Amino acid sequence: MAILLPGGAGYIGSHTAVELLNKGEEIVIVDNFSNSKPEVLDKIKQITGKNFKFYELDCLDKQALEKVFKENNIEAVINFAGLKAVGESVKKPLEYYMNNIAGALTVLEVMKEYNCKKFIFSSSATVYGEPEKIPLTEDCKTGGTTNPYGTTKLFIEKILQDLYKSDNEWDICILRYFNPVGSHESGLIGEEPQGIPNNLMPYIVRVASGQLRELSVFGNDYNTPDGTGVRDYIHVVDLARGHLKALKKIEKEGKGLYIYNLGTGNGYSVLDMVRAFEKATGKKVPYKIAPRREGDIATCYADCTKANKELGWRAEKTLEDMCKDSWNYIARNVK
Ligand code: NAD
Ligand code: UD1
Repeated sequence: MAILLPGGAGYIGSHTAVELLNKGEEIVIVDNFSNSKPEVLDKIKQITGKNFKFYELDCLDKQALEKVFKENNIEAVINFAGLKAVGESVKKPLEYYMNNIAGALTVLEVMKEYNCKKFIFSSSATVYGEPEKIPLTEDCKTGGTTNPYGTTKLFIEKILQDLYKSDNEWDICILRYFNPVGSHESGLIGEEPQGIPNNLMPYIVRVASGQLRELSVFGNDYNTPDGTGVRDYIHVVDLARGHLKALKKIEKEGKGLYIYNLGTGNGYSVLDMVRAFEKATGKKVPYKIAPRREGDIATCYADCTKANKELGWRAEKTLEDMCKDSWNYIARNVK
């Protein structure tokens, strides 16, 4: 029995693959490398000393996916495949809706054909839109997403709810990630945004490495302790481990649609992050205050009580680990 990871060559998928292999699970990765590189597969093998099957395919290609199910005994799917750049999604809405939604639908259709009904989905805190309250609990209202990327997450969550309603033989787990940062302690796998990064931590590391001149802090007039945006940054290894707990939950208890926030429950401001990074790495991060970024909210962090109680999961790594490991990956890999 194997766990299928569509998008498993990407940032979060590769870290989850490592944790699964380390726990002795059999995995199959499929990816079209639209936002990752084949080398990642060797790195996963290098870290774990384990082998796994890989198929280069697009999740929209139903026949190719059917072949994977025909050739392997797939027990559950953790679907990481998706495009994730918010700004790009505004410019290319059709590509985003097609890739993310049709991709997920195709995976689900093939799963149904092969009577494989355990599905874990990479959702995002973005589905909460403007937070109803802080910290966010899973029952907070969703909607009001401000870009097509966020809306794909919202729509797929809705599709999964309808699917479960139609057939409660499905075991579905929706994981709402907060802000994943950091990388595996080996420094062999990590996040590699193409072009100029949009997200805070990848930008900070590139300023620290001298690839970018300074960080623009998007607004210092928010209603937060220091006026800059507050988020819930979570180490990607903790996040990856959350998937193993989710898998256990649907394997053991089964039959249900579960939703969990995966964050740390702590909110840090942009300036907190700059200071923490400088302290952890000894690198300077010059910054300037810039106008607010459209679509940003002031504060977003999770209440993770539900995942703690029901999955027995909690994030364990510190902010220092997140900063050190983000830096370690870039220092080793970007010359
Ligand atoms: P990533 O881009 O590093 O990984 C996604 C992987 O999916 C890539 O390897 C890409 O090549 C692959 N892919 C995309 N479309 C595909 C398709 N049609 N067929 C086959 N492979 C395809 O992104 P990530 O950060 O690892 O994110 C994984 C998932 O988590 C995504 O769905 C993302 O939206 C979601 N998520 C990410 C974050 C974050 O900040 N990183 C936050 C919340 C949710
Ligand atoms: C962003 C996405 C969100 C997605 C999430 C995934 C937007 C509007 N939202 O969220 O949909 O799910 O990434 O991780 O893009 N910041 C700066 N300067 C920078 C970059 C960021 O000051 O150069 C600030 C932002 O204003 C924010 C904080 O840093 O306050 C975190 O930003 P970011 O890493 O982009 O994450 P989110 O905005 O939370």
